[in-house]
Amino acid sequence: MKRRDFLIGAAATGAFTAAPHIWRKDTSLARASNGEIKVGVLFSLTGTTGIIEESLNKATLLAIEEINDAGGINGMKIVPVVEDPASDPATFAVKARKLVVGDKCVSVFGSYTSASRKAVLPVFEKRDNLYWYPTLYEGRECSKNVIYTGAVPNQQQDEFIPWLVEKFGKKFYLIGSNYIYPKEENNYCKKLLEELGAEVVNEEYVPLGHSEFSSVINKIQSTQPNVIFSTVVGDSVVALHRQYRAAGLDPDKMPMASLTTSENEVAAMGGDAAAGHFTSAPYFMVHQSPENERFVEAYKSRWGGDKVTHFVSEPSYFQIYLFKQAVEQLAASDIDPTTIREAVKGQELIAPQGKVHLEAENLHTWLWPKIAMAKSDGQFEVLRDSKEWLKPEPYAAYPNQHCTADGLVQS
Ligand code: ACM
Repeated sequence: MKRRDFLIGAAATGAFTAAPHIWRKDTSLARASNGEIKVGVLFSLTGTTGIIEESLNKATLLAIEEINDAGGINGMKIVPVVEDPASDPATFAVKARKLVVGDKCVSVFGSYTSASRKAVLPVFEKRDNLYWYPTLYEGRECSKNVIYTGAVPNQQQDEFIPWLVEKFGKKFYLIGSNYIYPKEENNYCKKLLEELGAEVVNEEYVPLGHSEFSSVINKIQSTQPNVIFSTVVGDSVVALHRQYRAAGLDPDKMPMASLTTSENEVAAMGGDAAAGHFTSAPYFMVHQSPENERFVEAYKSRWGGDKVTHFVSEPSYFQIYLFKQAVEQLAASDIDPTTIREAVKGQELIAPQGKVHLEAENLHTWLWPKIAMAKSDGQFEVLRDSKEWLKPEPYAAYPNQHCTADGLVQS
């Protein structure tokens, strides 16, 4: 099978009918021209989340190269403009503005942290441009200027939390980095724990980039939880796991359960530090499917045989193919962020994790939750693989609010 056949696209039934015709062009909008479709690639190559974001940059560029090598989109080349925002939200905003206003990119693919996504949001909303965000995040956002292809809390926690309670017990220690993502993710976790009659023995946040966990580990030892629920990100994931192990804690008795520890962080900390801990995510590198085999092989062949793929690099990759499917529907003269947004609604494709669907209502993605245990060889063993894809519910922690095509609605 050729690379271009790798992801099989299908415009979804009903949601997408035809490219909208534009009678009067809005000249302030970024637009494709001269046989080129310019896009921004905005992932940190340096700083505390560089550890994961540089792999998102690589997955994005791989997909762009594959599409261009196979002839582009309707004969037009995708031209990536790469910026390094250095793990700093303020720099993200500056670079996003440069990509949208200066370079006139018709879309930007970027970000790991929610802090950086929040920082760039006004740039995209002001100019009606599109930000494609591949990272798991806390939900509670409803913007027509973001395409969300990572998991929201219901897609990572609905199966995970009851499974952890049943397997290990009801006392949870919540540890996260100190910003919006871990706090909102923990709000949902606490809702699920309460429904299960489980308890939170401590909830604690450390600064981004934090690397000294001895006082956290002392508190874990004194509170003796059954599960340490971790939403720390970046370099801190490595430090926390290593110091847990150095303190002589035992994952068989008191495991860490994480929404942010992927093969990438495991590679950085070493498999021995990660072994026995659990992660819930829609994708693991060991997932068996022809599409994943080709993704892993292409990634290694482009970036190095020692490289890993993971649950944020996979959406970074497949969202470029969703972009392609959307742009393919448009006449060359009509390619701008607003027409791309209409065209991507309801798109489906066979991604490495399975068939994914871009929900027309809220611009989030239907995904396949899994629960896995890290092993000392650096890979995960998948223990539970959902039989069905799961609808994205970005307001699951806030049942009176719903993200719709008309914006946020209160009921
Ligand atoms: C995140 O900040 N969304 C991991």
